[in-house]
Amino acid sequence: MTKLIDVPTTSGSDRESSAGRHPFLDKEGQKIQGLFDEIAPRYDRLNRLFSFSIDLWWRRRAVRSLRTRPGDRVLDACCGTGDLAMALLEQAPEAEVIGSDFSLPMLQAGNSKFLTTRSPALVRADTLHLPFDDCTFDGAMVAFGMRNVVDLDAGLRELRRILKPGGRLMILEFTEMQNRWIRPFSTFYQSQLLPRLGNRLSGSQVKAYSYLDESVRDWPDAERLAEKIRSAPLHAVRHHTLFPGNVAVHEAVRG
Ligand SMILES: C[S@@+](CC[C@H](N)C(=O)[O-])C[C@H]1O[C@@H](n2cnc3c(N)ncnc32)[C@H](O)[C@@H]1O
Repeated sequence: MTKLIDVPTTSGSDRESSAGRHPFLDKEGQKIQGLFDEIAPRYDRLNRLFSFSIDLWWRRRAVRSLRTRPGDRVLDACCGTGDLAMALLEQAPEAEVIGSDFSLPMLQAGNSKFLTTRSPALVRADTLHLPFDDCTFDGAMVAFGMRNVVDLDAGLRELRRILKPGGRLMILEFTEMQNRWIRPFSTFYQSQLLPRLGNRLSGSQVKAYSYLDESVRDWPDAERLAEKIRSAPLHAVRHHTLFPGNVAVHEAVRG
């Protein structure tokens, strides 16, 4: 297990983070944090079940975009239980990987599965107020987390802030199913079956999986997300989809 560093994220504190910001979560942020706190113990198992384990392959493919070199320092923001960080460490064992998330139960669930010395350091932190200095990471990555950050534009600016010039960003997220033959089935699965099954199997009182479905529907399409990344501003923005066509990988570079 790794050391888990707790940076306070709730209101009522006038303590400044090392980046000189006030850790503060608004009502919406607190709601989302509570929702992930609740589903944390079953999050990994339900991910495997609902994606037929293809989510592990998505993360392995997506981390390649960072082109991580030995010694690089990479942040996995909204890391949850750390699967993306682990996928990167499998490919780049010489990298220094830090996972941050504002849900302590998600981090704890991740922490309990890291049995090797090659595991990410975990920090409890809000992606909108990262406790890191400017220009300190060679790479930043987020899997299935950016759509939960209450202010996407501010989140992208914050990720840019901590990247060094030339540092790379990667975002892995759901997108509208590209294959129009599969689209009706995918929409039914995503918007009808998955929320019902998810709410039931996770035992969620707050209907967390209904919220997750809504957040996918509210999420910008791949081209619109690319525009937002350009506005951060980041450069060399590219995106591609992964099999079966309902997830997109966006990559960009800080100029
Ligand atoms: C759907 S999970 C994805 C977790 C992980 N990245 C993965 O690939 O499985 C979304 C995560 O984002 C975190 N999250 C959402 N908004 C956040 C914020 N503003 N700051 C930090 N973490 C946040 C949640 O706590 C949750 O663990």
